Amino acid sequence: MSNIEVLDDAGVRIICFNRPEKRNALSLDMYQQLTEYLIEGEANNDIKVFMLCGENQCFTSGNDIRDFISNGDLGPSHPAVRFLFCLLELKKPMVAAVSGSAVGIGTTLLLHCDLIYADPTAQFQLPFVNLALVPEAGASMLLPQLVGYPKAAELLLLGEPFDAHTAHQLKLINEIITPDALHSHTLSVAHKLARQPAGAVQLTRQLMRSNRNRLQHQMYLELEHFGSQLKSEEARARFSAFLNKT
Ligand code: COA
Repeated sequence: MSNIEVLDDAGVRIICFNRPEKRNALSLDMYQQLTEYLIEGEANNDIKVFMLCGENQCFTSGNDIRDFISNGDLGPSHPAVRFLFCLLELKKPMVAAVSGSAVGIGTTLLLHCDLIYADPTAQFQLPFVNLALVPEAGASMLLPQLVGYPKAAELLLLGEPFDAHTAHQLKLINEIITPDALHSHTLSVAHKLARQPAGAVQLTRQLMRSNRNRLQHQMYLELEHFGSQLKSEEARARFSAFLNKT
């Protein structure tokens, strides 16, 4: 069984996180597969829309914390770095269905999605500073723009979890859907989007995301600090505390 499940359905490439024993934490292999599925989907004329979701009533608990310990070098070929820059380059729209935990990159990747639905069990969290790290995926720029500086500072500096209702109030998600209907609702919206004229969809998306160059610069800055913090004593202590449940 793969930890990333993929199904192409009427123009929609559904990509599902599936690593139940680690709450769908993203391993290096999973980043690698995600990126390949996105790159292949971008080049495939039959695919119009990407849809992200998680199995086992969980979206993803974020980067695998064990990999934070073992893989300090964040060069351009690092699987997580490739995935982040692939998100930045994405031309086709992406929708997401969020159930359960959406931690770290589980929340920041939503800033690169176009339509996001969550059920009432969704719990978002940006615990980068809690782990003695800094935000990634351009969240240090995109989040203040989206929710305003004071709220972004609260979410990023205190790193506490917040629920679907708060995420909706903050305009991080489009709508809260009941757990039973979340997948089918998100898929039906994705199908609707897939039937729209593809060229106009991609151009409109590109126009709405016209800060791409500035965002790319911010992502490089984030990575630089992320890389040095990864090696810091304060971060190593936090990783050990999580893994040893202390
Ligand atoms: N990386 C590695 N392992 C993880 C993980 C992660 N991001 N998230 C969860 N796990 C593992 C736990 O270590 C545990 O493994 P074990 O059974 O071998 O001890 C297992 O998944 C279950 O996790 P647990 O914490 O017991 O589940 P929970 O339902 O009580 O809590 C979360 C779920 C997602 C709230 C909690 O696991 C969590 O906060 N994870 C860390 C998230 C994080 O900080 N991500 C990085 C952001 S930059």
